[in-house]
Amino acid sequence: MLEVARLSNGYGGAEVIADISLTIAQGESVALLGRNGAGKTTLLHSLFNIGPPCTGDIRFNGRPIARLPTHRIARHGLALVPQGRGGFPDLRVRESLGLATLAPRGPDARACTLAGIYRQFPRLHERRNTLCANLSGGERQLLALARALLTQSELIVLDECSEGLAPLAIDTLLQPELLKLRERGYTVLLAEQNIGLALAVATRVIVLSDRRIVFDGDTEAFRQDPGMQREHLGL
Ligand SMILES: Nc1ncnc2c1ncn2[C@@H]1O[C@H](COP(=O)(O)OP(=O)(O)OP(=O)(O)O)[C@@H](O)[C@H]1O
Ligand SMILES: [Mg+2]
Repeated sequence: MLEVARLSNGYGGAEVIADISLTIAQGESVALLGRNGAGKTTLLHSLFNIGPPCTGDIRFNGRPIARLPTHRIARHGLALVPQGRGGFPDLRVRESLGLATLAPRGPDARACTLAGIYRQFPRLHERRNTLCANLSGGERQLLALARALLTQSELIVLDECSEGLAPLAIDTLLQPELLKLRERGYTVLLAEQNIGLALAVATRVIVLSDRRIVFDGDTEAFRQDPGMQREHLGL
């Protein structure tokens, strides 16, 4: 589904990621791990052409998408749940979700309706008249995830969606929803600092360190490599 070849990017002449190549097949759930500042967000943003333009080749379902305008990349069927607490604080939950349903859909779009989202996320249904600014952190992450699903994308990219959430919110709100994505056949790429969450929802792990991929294998192989975990993740 996603093919990345010799991807490099950085800021002001300093390379942050160099010569990255990876492929993600349909239905895979892949965790992207790396210390703070390892370049996870830079890699994800390069896929969507947010920030400095990358070098290298990116293909989605065989079609070249590298350096296209971000809205055209999204139209190919990729959705980003960005890092941090962005969004539209002045909108009500139902308005924010309604906007996401307006995104143009590609020919291979997955069926996902507002009614379906309210069934899947009863918490968002309860809060549908609440201003987004007044949601809890966990609810806001659910909203961001729901908005990505409503764009009917095939690949859901999540950038540290657990950041700033209490362990209880991660365990009871976020992790079950991420597991559901996997069960329903979505293809998922998630950057995470929370190794426990990453290993619980991913089938494969990619580790970024010193600008490059230093590990790419299934979660079991990751678990059995404590030396690599120590060296590149400080675990
Ligand atoms: N807009 C920017 N301008 C200049 N430098 C930047 C910019 N964004 C990121 N960097 C630098 O690039 C490096 C990689 O940052 P990036 O945000 O990709 O890391 P990350 O792996 O996502 O980290 P975190 O886990 O903290 O989110 C860091 O050294 C960071 O300071
Ligand atoms: Mg980041």
